[in-house]
Amino acid sequence: MKYFYINNKKYKLSSNIHSIIAYCENLGITIPHFCYHKKLSIAGNCRMCLIEVKNSPKPIVACSMSVTNKMEIYTDSPLVKKARENVIEFLLLNHPLDCPVCDQGGECDLQDQAFYFGSTQKRFYNYKRIVTNKNLGVLIKTVMTRCIHCTRCVRFSNEIAGTSELGVFGRGMTSEIGTYLNKNFSSELSGNVIDICPVGALTSKPYPFVKRSWELKVVKSFDFTDSFGINILIYLKDNLIVKVLSNSNIDSQDFQNYWLSDKTRFSFNGMFSPERITETFLVFKKSIIKKTWKNLIKELVLNIYFYDQLKKHLFKKFHITLLINTEISFEIMLILIGLKKQYNFIQIRKLDTYKIKTNLESSFTTNSINDIKFNDFCCLLNVNLRYENSYFNIKLRQRYLKGNFKVLTLGSNFNNTYPFKTLGFNINLLKNIAEGNNTICQEIITARKPLVVLGSSLFNRNDTYGITNTLDLLKKIKPILALNTLNVSLTESTISYITKLKEYSSIDYNMSSVLYLININLKTSKLNNLIKVKLLHYYNKNIVFKKIMIQQNNSFFLNNYFKVMKEYDSYIFYNLPNKVFFEESAIMLTNEGILKKKIKIVKNNNTIEKSNWSLIRNFFNILSKINFLNDINKYKKVVCLYKKFRSNLHILKIFYFPKKTKFIFDSYLKVNDPLMISQQKYSKKKTPILKTKGYFWIEDFFIGGKDSYSKLSTIMIKCSKKLRITSTNFML
Ligand code: SF4
Ligand code: FES
Repeated sequence: MKYFYINNKKYKLSSNIHSIIAYCENLGITIPHFCYHKKLSIAGNCRMCLIEVKNSPKPIVACSMSVTNKMEIYTDSPLVKKARENVIEFLLLNHPLDCPVCDQGGECDLQDQAFYFGSTQKRFYNYKRIVTNKNLGVLIKTVMTRCIHCTRCVRFSNEIAGTSELGVFGRGMTSEIGTYLNKNFSSELSGNVIDICPVGALTSKPYPFVKRSWELKVVKSFDFTDSFGINILIYLKDNLIVKVLSNSNIDSQDFQNYWLSDKTRFSFNGMFSPERITETFLVFKKSIIKKTWKNLIKELVLNIYFYDQLKKHLFKKFHITLLINTEISFEIMLILIGLKKQYNFIQIRKLDTYKIKTNLESSFTTNSINDIKFNDFCCLLNVNLRYENSYFNIKLRQRYLKGNFKVLTLGSNFNNTYPFKTLGFNINLLKNIAEGNNTICQEIITARKPLVVLGSSLFNRNDTYGITNTLDLLKKIKPILALNTLNVSLTESTISYITKLKEYSSIDYNMSSVLYLININLKTSKLNNLIKVKLLHYYNKNIVFKKIMIQQNNSFFLNNYFKVMKEYDSYIFYNLPNKVFFEESAIMLTNEGILKKKIKIVKNNNTIEKSNWSLIRNFFNILSKINFLNDINKYKKVVCLYKKFRSNLHILKIFYFPKKTKFIFDSYLKVNDPLMISQQKYSKKKTPILKTKGYFWIEDFFIGGKDSYSKLSTIMIKCSKKLRITSTNFML
């Protein structure tokens, strides 16, 4: 048995761990360090991790030295202590003593080590060196005199972000960290350098001087900006979010990524804009009438009742359309289906509907992301992975860097952080590949474990069934081919899993007297176009009665408000302010097929917004008070009892629902609960693949996502503007 000693204690030598510092950390022995970081390569330039090894004439750096058989290591000998004191004294020679005004204070590695190994006596009385601050962009504030040249930020830029924009300039006393040509650090992962900088050289620019680490309260949650719902830690000060960090264990090898994108880190401020409308009111004839919740609901009941009676009088059908988009939780989706089951005049519509085989989980989940290390070939079908899912992109990049991995793309071109081969822009090429008429077929056939990542925006095309059937054919030819669908938003899987919804169309517009928008921005181009066209029709026909529009939304802002109101003049408009993502608890199904529950993080007792859940429940109550003339279900057996739904809610109180047990949940709902709408049969429609280019749905990483908050975040808007300035000749 191979063994070694640390501080005279014998330990078994393992083949998995190499460096002395990693061994010590595993055994709970702390070795101070600055440049060493588990997720980055070894630099060995700060010399803080010095230890003593028997028979070695000098102290040894623990981060870059491997443990060998029978090695005797001392981590707390007088020599080690003296060496560390000298290193700290050396580092503090040029480091400013500005801890009281430094944002890193309280969480600074240098401050901690200076506390243990620092000297109370000064021995050098020269001036400290001056380094000019660098402009690294909107997110990173620099105070470069504090830099200790650990090069963590440089290695991050090269190894993880893949942009190589940061570097060390000069030598010795004149060494500086900066960007080449004074550019911004333009990576979508740039904010991570704030976390990894061990001192206060790189800190958060949007939130300067607002917090001290000991004042903050930490709550666990997950990310809302993409379909994976990465685990995050939210730091609150006085009930305000001031910082977001990754909640991934630094040792973990699973898909939960340690690095956060800038959108995850900073876009939360879009939720709490002072311009957010938090009042209940109705708009009638271009005037805003403020009402209390009670009066507004009363008014709504009367109006809905009136429209039901009116439609009956005109021998027309009365319809309420519930329009959803991408921001919807599992519970709300279920209660909407309950509503639909109870009232025959209610219909649920989606703004974008994918032509998708809802009975196949593989159509809307990723199935083999955690196995990337075994894949040797990857084909990206119409996915701009860098913008759509930076976590997945980091995984692929890390796999690429390990070698023996080929990446191909089919669809529009994009700028990625690792090399890939473009097959072409035309999606029709997929057919050639399946038929064996492309040079790439040989590579797919010979690949040990090929992986295909399909952008769910492809399901928007008219030839979706042609594409999915071709992929099924490819899967038959190469059974080991792993098919994965990358969704555009966190709730896409929820909607696809529970039911198949039709797209909102002009027919729905004509039929429905009440349009209930759930988390839909009225400025959404699709809705806008549809309604504007219909409004022309409305004015021509000179219809007397207005329609009812109920807006349950939290991202509707005052600036837009009056413009929009003019456009929607043909509606009686009810504004029901609801809570934002971090203000309410909910369950979401992620792209990986995991049910995750988030809890209420920000508690604002002074506002009148209600949670999405309670607003829909109120609507349920409103409907139950009305004796609908149009309700044919009234004479039938009511299939969904609200009380029954409530009593079944205990099954939703699950924190994490692993994919394997999801089937139990599925069958539970199907067998015992009448809420589930029967899912579509497997579609065998044979549609040819069109000879058209594949377009990406996202153009701007910072404000182009499907979540409703990042586009309202002032920080994200600034980032987007900065990026566009660097990539356009026109002044913005
Ligand atoms: S800026 Fe921070 S992370 Fe970068 S080299 Fe300096 S101390 Fe290290
Ligand atoms: S941590 Fe070992 S030299 Fe910096």
